[in-house]
Amino acid sequence: MKDRIFLSPPNMSGNEQKYIDEVFKSNYIAPTGEFVTKFENSIKYYTKTKNALALSSATAGLHLALRVLDIKCGDFVLTSSFTFIGSVNCILYQGATPIFIDSDKSWNLSPKLLKKAIKKLPKKPKALIVTHLYGQLAEIDKILEICRDNNIYLIEDSAESLGASFKDKQSGTFGDLGVYSFNGNKILTTSGGGILVSDNREWIDRAKFLSTQAKEPHLHYEHKEYGYNYRLSNVLSAIGVAQMEVLTKRVEQKRAIFDFYKKELSGIKEILFMPEIKGSRGNRWLTTLIFKKTDPIKVIKALEKENIESRPLWKPMHLQPLFKNSISFIDGTSENLYKRGICLPSPTRIDLKELYRVVEVIKDLC
Ligand SMILES: Cc1ncc(COP(=O)(O)O)c(C=O)c1O
Repeated sequence: MKDRIFLSPPNMSGNEQKYIDEVFKSNYIAPTGEFVTKFENSIKYYTKTKNALALSSATAGLHLALRVLDIKCGDFVLTSSFTFIGSVNCILYQGATPIFIDSDKSWNLSPKLLKKAIKKLPKKPKALIVTHLYGQLAEIDKILEICRDNNIYLIEDSAESLGASFKDKQSGTFGDLGVYSFNGNKILTTSGGGILVSDNREWIDRAKFLSTQAKEPHLHYEHKEYGYNYRLSNVLSAIGVAQMEVLTKRVEQKRAIFDFYKKELSGIKEILFMPEIKGSRGNRWLTTLIFKKTDPIKVIKALEKENIESRPLWKPMHLQPLFKNSISFIDGTSENLYKRGICLPSPTRIDLKELYRVVEVIKDLC
């Protein structure tokens, strides 16, 4: 059996072990410690945001974002339908109602359908959570304008798009709050983790308070409201600091993988890759494509036979049994993408021989 090619495995840069050793030597393996602050500072520096909060996951970050914006039971929250469930669970945690918006030719949220939803809904939505899927920017300038015009908070789910940018501004920094994921399969990983960012100091201070069990500043334990245990540990933050040192390189590597696939598969006219909107530079976390006629499941199975991992595109939220009675503004775009598309292996350690193994399977089938 040939070695397995994974979809997007972790890639340690070299300094992770050194920084973990420093943490152990200092004995600061408890939740706080200097690496938590260093990790937050590295994100602030890279993304040019004023405040950052290290958390146990991006899902926790999205949940805190809604909590600090006072999104409550019965509120409407608009969100991308073509996304991972992590973008949406936080809305349910707050007892709010998700309203799903379909994609457009960018594969991300459609500004046109967003406008339509705002016009038609019986109640004004309080917030929008927009996902920059697979590391590619949504039409963020148009989406931001619509949100500002309608007094709707904008939260960017940048779980997959750390290091991606639009007109040289980083993904996650356009709206009111943004979230990055450091889950095991992301462009950078701390095994699990997330960062919440915002230029609004009060919101991040409030999120920090809620992430540490909403403990009032007393010597004894005093609580006026409920909170969560959502902070990231000093050990995992040490991994994050080392990972952030190679973010620029990782984006280059991911983009080079995409360029390879695009060039090698250019002869197959039925293949279309996820586009990059004008003025943006995606991180190409995963190379994704759709087939006009070949069944993507056949491709996934053929790759698996060669010990190569690939996946279908995300199943849109409005098609999930969990949301069968949801309100959605849909024109069929994301459903078509889901039925036609796959994610190709995009590990930053992949070598040329392995990349050829992947494209040969596809060339044999199409
Ligand atoms: C689009 C999207 N949103 C949210 C999440 C949740 O991130 P986490 O696993 O860090 O909670 C993920 C990935 O895991 C994701 O891909």
